[in-house]
Amino acid sequence: MTKRTFLQHLPVFGLGAPVLFKNLDHWVNKVAHLSPTEVAENEDFWLQVRSDYRLKPDYINLENGYYCIAPQETLENFIHQVREVNYQGSYYMRTVQFDNKQAVAEKLAELAGCTADELIITRNTTESLDTIIGGFPWKAGDEAIMAEQDYGAMLDMFELQKQRHGIILKKVSVPNHPKSDEEIVELYAKAITSKTRLLMVCHMVNITGQILPIRKICDMAHKKGVEVLVDGAHAFAHIQFSVKDLDCDYYGCSLHKWLSTPLGAGMLYIKKEKIPQIWQTFGEMGRKEDDILRLNHTGTHPVHTDLAIANAIEYYQRLGADRKEARLRYLQNYWTNKVRQLPHIILNTPEDPKRSCAIANVGVKGMKPAVLAETLLKKYRIWTVAIDGAGVHGCRITPNVYTTIKELDVFVKALTELG
Ligand SMILES: Cc1ncc(COP(=O)(O)O)c(C=O)c1O
Repeated sequence: MTKRTFLQHLPVFGLGAPVLFKNLDHWVNKVAHLSPTEVAENEDFWLQVRSDYRLKPDYINLENGYYCIAPQETLENFIHQVREVNYQGSYYMRTVQFDNKQAVAEKLAELAGCTADELIITRNTTESLDTIIGGFPWKAGDEAIMAEQDYGAMLDMFELQKQRHGIILKKVSVPNHPKSDEEIVELYAKAITSKTRLLMVCHMVNITGQILPIRKICDMAHKKGVEVLVDGAHAFAHIQFSVKDLDCDYYGCSLHKWLSTPLGAGMLYIKKEKIPQIWQTFGEMGRKEDDILRLNHTGTHPVHTDLAIANAIEYYQRLGADRKEARLRYLQNYWTNKVRQLPHIILNTPEDPKRSCAIANVGVKGMKPAVLAETLLKKYRIWTVAIDGAGVHGCRITPNVYTTIKELDVFVKALTELG
């Protein structure tokens, strides 16, 4: 028996989910004639979606930015896969493990809008971005650009390259309320010199939810011969885009955030022609230099998480990327519009609906963010996270598809009373 025919006789499970999400299909069919913005306001529909999740009743969860919990059916199927891999043992690992992972990567590439030979499955954004920052062919004196508002772990990774290779780091500061895309593009453009090699930029700033004009930044940077690494931790499966349209060189994100996979799944896209120049973090010899799998030697890891990505994609697509984005933006605009004009409130997220989606950040004048977060939790049973730095002082507020208008009304009442 050849390897191929042998594999064909194996039970390949976890790819696609034909028996899952029947209820969701039913609810979606009933609103299929409506536009995404009409569905966004249909509380009955979203209450049905909410029933797909197991939610802790002790608090209103407005901190879905760390990670987004998976729907029950995705979770149960994941647990089934954990059991199945444990049942098959090394037989699974030595036979279909890599074929299954590749099949999932192909589905993911389709969703991301690239080809499968430009994408690898990682554990998270940290691994994805650090693969590029650490593997970039730095020379002493090279310059890299980033923002004060970028994620700390990535800023630390650049710091490490500075210590190791003698590169120079330049930090811009992204304004919370830009007047135009051009203002942001100009900010990054001004930091570029003839020595600049790489520019890292957040697709969505994690502490404020602000969406940055990535395509325009890439166009500007490329004209000056600078490569662009995008931190897409909060954007993927939250707002709709394709990596090809962004025209960035590298894009890293976590799938346990807005795609709602179980914990420990991420993705790294690398433009085909940039793959050969990236040094490996974990050795894997014997592959061509433009084979992206060269950068994906993970060692033995929780392979069931890779499988669950397929179910998460299925759920996201059946719910509808456009419906999800419209609902998330609607939820954020619902509460921000009610409090923006209150004299004691400071919103750290732009008002223009194009510049944000689910995430926004709010402060109360004269109140430390940590005190605001504690008051929201203790007095109003609302779970958030305090942000206090990089020009942002407030709580990050992140609803998800299961958040109700009733819950947001409790939050609006709390903010109003804190005046
Ligand atoms: C902008 C940004 N980048 C990177 C990360 C790191 O994500 P992970 O811990 O999933 O690697 C986060 C986490 O919240 C983030 O907000």
